[in-house]
Amino acid sequence: MNEPKLLSHMKENHLDAFYISKKENVRFISGYTGDDSALLITSNEYFFITDSRYTEQAQLECPEYTIKNWRTPGRTKADMVGDLAREHKLTSVAFESDVLSYNDFQLFDEKVDANLKPYSGVIETFRQIKTPEEIQYMRAACEISCRALEQLMPMIKPGITEKELAANLSLFMVEEGADTMPYGNILISGKKTSLLHGIPSEKSIEYGDFVLIDFGCQVHGYMSDMTRTFVVGKATDKQKEVYEIEKRMLEESTAIHKAGVTGKDIYIASLGPLKDTPYMGYQYNNIGHGIGLFVHEGPFSSEQDLTPFPVGNVRTIEPGIYIPNWGGVRIEDQLLITEDGYENMVRFTHDLIEL
Ligand code: GLY
Ligand code: MN
Ligand code: MN
Repeated sequence: MNEPKLLSHMKENHLDAFYISKKENVRFISGYTGDDSALLITSNEYFFITDSRYTEQAQLECPEYTIKNWRTPGRTKADMVGDLAREHKLTSVAFESDVLSYNDFQLFDEKVDANLKPYSGVIETFRQIKTPEEIQYMRAACEISCRALEQLMPMIKPGITEKELAANLSLFMVEEGADTMPYGNILISGKKTSLLHGIPSEKSIEYGDFVLIDFGCQVHGYMSDMTRTFVVGKATDKQKEVYEIEKRMLEESTAIHKAGVTGKDIYIASLGPLKDTPYMGYQYNNIGHGIGLFVHEGPFSSEQDLTPFPVGNVRTIEPGIYIPNWGGVRIEDQLLITEDGYENMVRFTHDLIEL
């Protein structure tokens, strides 16, 4: 799949091998869709290090790899990498320094007789620019999410709990064609909507509540991520005021997306509608992220982020206003960055909906 990109990096950096164990990076490089496995990429052979739960799946999904079952009594993955390093005379082995635990690193240091070289962000940087196929999967995931939300809306009524709604939303996404492993959707109501990452609970929806739904699904592993905030019943004047400011924050910061823009530019654009309102200070500093095989990928849209967005990057835009002990509003879309603008993959109104 994507081994050639890594091989070029290894050549430039004089590396004999690269050990990869971050789940999304294993999938991106090899195409393997399971868990708990690692790759050892060398210039003339690719090794797939797993255990007997996954050997058949690995053979099917990664036919170019030599499959190695590390799990025999008393052995560790580090023993397997040590054997391979010896057999193939590997003198330098790179590893993902943000993934290998301290305990694992100590084992590798003991068992692998090669120079261990820490790297982070190498494969993540490849992943920032999406191929047409990856983009198609994410368009499909966004369409599924929108259809599922439309199905959920008639159920959002006083009396139903946040958990019941969250479970139904996941079901609707799978029925609409999403992969069967939903990720943790946020579906919160009332004052809890000021919690940026609140968890659905047994709380029942009440008349007058904000209901904030931040959710997504995966198609072939590629994710969607969107948020809409509704009001159950008639919105108060303050709810309408906060919602309208938030909507302008979203739309003004969305409008400037294009290749070369940075996360800092986006964050600053989002603040325009907040200035001179009582709600300045109730925003959050990180209002977007790359997305793909993982939900939060770089570059981020924050005051600190100076990485220019590349063409082909897919990312979210999600400013919000969060007022403790009152409530919060977030609207989130998913954008594909193009040379001179963006494509919004989420086709769902930004207007306030009173349910
Ligand atoms: N607010 C979490 C997310 O959408 O990334
Ligand atoms: Mn989200
Ligand atoms: Mn997001």
